[in-house]
Amino acid sequence: MSSHKDIRRTTVTRLHTMKAEGEKIACLTAYDASFARVLDAAGMDVILVGDSLGMVVQGHDTTVPVTVDDVLYHTRSVARGCTRALLMADMPFMSYPTSEAALHNAARFLQEGGAQMVKLEGGAAQIETVRRLSENGIPVCAHLGLKPQSIHKLGAYRVQGRDAAAADAMVKEAQGLVEAGADLLLLECVPTRLANRIRDAVPIPVIGIGAGAGCDGQILVLHDVLGLTPGAQMPRFAKDFLAGKDSIRGAIEDYVAQVKNGRFPAPEHGF
Ligand code: KIV
Repeated sequence: MSSHKDIRRTTVTRLHTMKAEGEKIACLTAYDASFARVLDAAGMDVILVGDSLGMVVQGHDTTVPVTVDDVLYHTRSVARGCTRALLMADMPFMSYPTSEAALHNAARFLQEGGAQMVKLEGGAAQIETVRRLSENGIPVCAHLGLKPQSIHKLGAYRVQGRDAAAADAMVKEAQGLVEAGADLLLLECVPTRLANRIRDAVPIPVIGIGAGAGCDGQILVLHDVLGLTPGAQMPRFAKDFLAGKDSIRGAIEDYVAQVKNGRFPAPEHGF
């Protein structure tokens, strides 16, 4: 008889098997225990405590003001409602300027927050950080494409990797991050063709947001899925799943079903 507890939670290994078997991975953000319970019960594979909390919970214009303590607070709250989904905590702006700082803060998300994975924005510049976290047993999701924490450098939230040179560079970055030990890639706002190229170039699951239906899984911000984002600010890649339904639970279940059966995202949600 095994002395280990029966682990029913979604694991990194399970996500890799899902990619290999062509089962789509359903992911969504959450920021509190009540919503985490609903997402968990609906069969969500991954719940992200995104630094989007700075915008949708705290009311800031960008994610830049979000702190490690903010993400920790919300990660602990979500962890209390989440028993099955893999829980991923977002490393906020300036929480990983060096690999030592990244290791310190990522360890807090796992030890104090109850997360099983961290996400950080970055490509080539984060390869050594990803290696350091991975070598210390911390699963990492690397976020490529549009990186909202760099909004003051970018000037606007726009599609990334449109020209051939930028596309080739992103494929190389993805491969470098995988070689360094990344367990998951997240692509935000990249052309569908490029996302499919990256999906085929790496052995780990690729989760898309505004990256087309070919990705191994999809993620959205909870408030967009529930139609809470004012019309003009609703990103083209998002969809209000509550429209026409009478419960939040039904909307979340429909989101999971549409990701799993490939009906979401539709071509009009991509670039
Ligand atoms: O912070 C967040 O919610 C994210 C999503 C855009 C995936 O990173």
